[in-house]
Amino acid sequence: MKKRALIVFVITVLSISAVQYVFGFSSGITGFSGMNGGNSCNNCHHSGITPEVSITGPQLVLPGATQLYSLTISGGQQISGGLNVAVSDGALLSLSSETQLVNDEITHTDPKSVNQDGAVVFSYAWTAPVITGTVAITMYGAGNSVDGNGSNSGDAAGLTTLPIVVMALDEQVYLPMIRRD
Ligand code: HEC
Repeated sequence: MKKRALIVFVITVLSISAVQYVFGFSSGITGFSGMNGGNSCNNCHHSGITPEVSITGPQLVLPGATQLYSLTISGGQQISGGLNVAVSDGALLSLSSETQLVNDEITHTDPKSVNQDGAVVFSYAWTAPVITGTVAITMYGAGNSVDGNGSNSGDAAGLTTLPIVVMALDEQVYLPMIRRD
């Protein structure tokens, strides 16, 4: 009985560490884009130089249209980085193996190395909701600049938001034409 208990214990410990290895934070994390009450990667990551983080992409989008966006992490450790993007409406899409969609949010799969400009750039897409009229959207992004030491120290993250307006074509074009009549 004692031996069996020991075997069960060892198997349990091994499988818990295997799960932690597969779902380690360095292979992506969601819920820390800044959308949830300002929670960010800095809840855990510390002792690094804070980077500049920005999101670029279209800010006036037709309902149902899919557009390209990118999150850039510059400054900071200038070694590698990870991200978490969330949006108040519409659907995010992962475009490459560098990112993944988890809980409807974008995150990295592995820390990505800086490019020749010392920046880490992740690209992804977003599909606007199908609406009539006009809706204001906020895209939230966290970019974590890490030192690649495999721990949460020597790292720092920055937060950013991108306001987007989704507007139906009849609001943009036809309504002024109707008014002219
Ligand atoms: C709940 C605590 C926690 C939060 C929040 C957190 N991390 Fe981490 N992160 C860790 C720990 C612990 C490690 C080291 C172990 C590992 O790699 O899984 C780590 C490691 C990493 C690494 C590798 C670091 C290195 O120097 O090698 C990256 C990249 C990373 N996290 C990205 C992020 C991003 C991006 C966010 C925010 C969107 C984030 N993490 C939020 C705990 C956290």
